[in-house]
Amino acid sequence: MCPVQFEVKVRAFSSGDLDGICEIERLSFPDPWSKLEFQMVRRLPNVVFLVAELEGSPVGYVVAERRHSFLRRGSSGRILNLAVHPNFRRMGIGSRLLREATAMLNVEEVWLEVRKSNHAAVNFYLKSGFKPVNLAPRYYGDEDAVRMVKRPLTFPPQQGD
Ligand code: ACO
Repeated sequence: MCPVQFEVKVRAFSSGDLDGICEIERLSFPDPWSKLEFQMVRRLPNVVFLVAELEGSPVGYVVAERRHSFLRRGSSGRILNLAVHPNFRRMGIGSRLLREATAMLNVEEVWLEVRKSNHAAVNFYLKSGFKPVNLAPRYYGDEDAVRMVKRPLTFPPQQGD
């Protein structure tokens, strides 16, 4: 793990982050969220939107949502979006964003969908303790998603723990 992790600050999203986040989003996904989508999602109740900042600029972000199921009488969360700038990957930033967002959700289980061909992200979530549950056919229109869940919410120990 690179020492840069120790200079990275994780904090709540603010509107000044939008341009930087949209640039990371474009570099990270074939079907990037628009600026408007980020602006809309930040206004939703029960959304956790965190930014990893290095020397004043965003280098990653996570958007997660808390849901309450009255039928199952439990609480669950969903990772809606998570990306790290390509120049800052494999430094532990994605893991830290995931860990901090999950802690803030404060739920019993967390779900997510990830493109089947996105081996880096599938491996990242497996490493973080998520388990594949099933395939969601055509979830992305052009591709299936792997649906994954993590319960109970414990993470592997990090350096310094
Ligand atoms: N290939 C294989 N394993 C990987 C990779 C990779 N490219 N990247 C991470 N991992 C695994 C490794 O086991 C890694 O530990 P190691 O480096 O000690 O071997 C572990 O995950 C932790 O990696 P981090 O450094 O914490 O992850 P990073 O900061 O690089 O972020 C992320 C991972 C977010 C998936 C990043 O690659 C990225 O932004 N990808 C593009 C966007 C994306 O696909 N986001 C997920 C979409 S799905 C969703 O949002 C629900």
